[in-house]
Amino acid sequence: MNHLGSKSLETNRLVLRKDTDGDKELLWEYMFSDKEAAKACNWINFENKEEFLNLKYEIPDNIYNWTIWLKNKNIPVGGISIHHQEDDYYHAEVGYSINPKYWRLGYASEALEIVLDFLINKVGYERISGECRIDNIASKKVMEKCNMKLEGIKRKAYYKNGVFYDNYLFSKIKEDYK
Ligand SMILES: CC(C)(COP(=O)(O)OP(=O)(O)OC[C@H]1O[C@@H](n2cnc3c(N)ncnc32)[C@H](O)[C@@H]1OP(=O)(O)O)[C@@H](O)C(=O)NCCC(=O)NCCS
Repeated sequence: MNHLGSKSLETNRLVLRKDTDGDKELLWEYMFSDKEAAKACNWINFENKEEFLNLKYEIPDNIYNWTIWLKNKNIPVGGISIHHQEDDYYHAEVGYSINPKYWRLGYASEALEIVLDFLINKVGYERISGECRIDNIASKKVMEKCNMKLEGIKRKAYYKNGVFYDNYLFSKIKEDYK
């Protein structure tokens, strides 16, 4: 494995990069002060701006966490990260979210595609997986659009507010690029 950290990645319309202290005002304005977005995307619910501004970023090279920015407008619209990693097994699980104001524009698919390529072909993971609740049609489509393969359904894999949900399990492996 060749850990590179959350290097900046660029697509046609997006720049993915790790947060810096200089980004905080824009992150607050476009993402974290937006209660509806934070709720839809399960972002950390900050009490107030001060709490957010006081947060210290110290992200080591084996942690992968990008904010997704619109390239031409310099607006942050979402995030994508490794949620869970098992480096001994060359496996990691990714997750992503986009502010609802920017849904259905293809941004999640565009971001996931370049992150999968980076993690498998540059960092050296053999397998990247992703999961979503079976009622999360949008997230399922995002993984399908990135040519991840459906491996099956994990029963009762997600629990929220007293209810269990089944999850789809998708993956992409190094051989899928050949
Ligand atoms: C899942 C999520 C990231 C998708 O973001 P997005 O940028 O809107 O996704 P895309 O625009 O790349 O859409 C991918 C496909 O899903 C479709 N899609 C998007 N939202 C949809 C919805 N609500 N219902 C049905 N299809 C939907 C798009 O039309 C597109 O398909 P198409 O190319 O055939 O038109 C976004 O809905 C989100 O942040 N949801 C909340 C957090 C979440 O669920 N994250 C995933 C956790 S597993």
